[in-house]
Amino acid sequence: MKVLVATEKPFAKIAVDGIKKEIEGAGFELALLEKYTDKAQLLDAVKDANAIIIRSDIIDAEVLEAAKELKIVVRAGAGYDNVDLNAATAHGVCVMNTPGQNSNAVAELVFGLLVYAVRNFYNGTSGTELMGKKLGIHAYGNVGRNVARIAKGFGMELYAYDAFCPKDVIEKDGVKAVDSAEELYKICNIVSLHIPATAETKNSINCDLLKNMPKGAILVNTARKEVINEDELIQLMEERPDFKYITDIMPAANAKFTELFAGRYFSTPKKMGAQTAEANINAGIAAAKQIVGFLKEGCEKFRVNK
Ligand SMILES: NC(=O)c1ccc[n+]([C@@H]2O[C@H](COP(=O)([O-])OP(=O)(O)OC[C@H]3O[C@@H](n4cnc5c(N)ncnc54)[C@H](O)[C@@H]3O)[C@@H](O)[C@H]2O)c1
Repeated sequence: MKVLVATEKPFAKIAVDGIKKEIEGAGFELALLEKYTDKAQLLDAVKDANAIIIRSDIIDAEVLEAAKELKIVVRAGAGYDNVDLNAATAHGVCVMNTPGQNSNAVAELVFGLLVYAVRNFYNGTSGTELMGKKLGIHAYGNVGRNVARIAKGFGMELYAYDAFCPKDVIEKDGVKAVDSAEELYKICNIVSLHIPATAETKNSINCDLLKNMPKGAILVNTARKEVINEDELIQLMEERPDFKYITDIMPAANAKFTELFAGRYFSTPKKMGAQTAEANINAGIAAAKQIVGFLKEGCEKFRVNK
């Protein structure tokens, strides 16, 4: 069995070493395609692969068509919107993610961004503190829960809305569960986004939702750029000079945000949330273990397609 690691943005070496140990320890062969610059290289590399580990790499219908021997794709990370799930299902390929492995890394970055924002991007002027502020956690999944844990250390007042997570799960962490996104945005000084990009959530963070946030509001996005209605966010920030937007996922209209909102807009130059040695190692090794479990024992825990 051949397992391909196809990473345009490679894992840290220590993570690759861990993956190699898991795969070869199970008696499988490991192949590496790192820093590829052309899709043709990926199409060629997948030809004889039985399993593929990816990061943000695109696995579309063309790649699946080329991968005649493929049984499983594991996205080392949480979001799997870079894999065409329907095409994978049509080809009989199992798709998995590795939930929870990079959540602490993303949650820590939320606070790196927040402190930067409330201290006016370190421009030498007097800022504000996080203590006592109302933080709204929009989706209480793996990252949301870690954000809650860290926010308690900052002495923040915590609220959350999740469309699927039961209220008692949220409230046992000392977080107030609210009934709707509308309520969350009305109450909270700061909202941190942790929803996945789905048909329902795409473009859902719009003017109607954001306009009710209190004065001096901050929206922090470490989720996905697609969930933001960028035109409406721009319109809102033009109308509300008190509003700040900080993000780990550069908007399509980054140039416009940068030009219009100096001092209250910041984007990381490249998605940094999961970019830690620990998250790399955790997600990479989890992906390798899941492949071994699937190929040897048929274990489908963490499967995300039907
Ligand atoms: N910045 C980064 O590098 C980075 C890294 C990891 C994850 N992410 C992104 O962060 C987000 C959260 O990741 P996670 O690991 O916590 O995912 P998760 O699957 O653990 O949690 C997602 C939560 O969203 C909730 N949800 C789904 N649809 C909803 C809706 N319409 N309204 C409200 N809640 C809804 C689910 O019930 C779940 O609790 C995802 O968008 C993921 O792609 C970004």
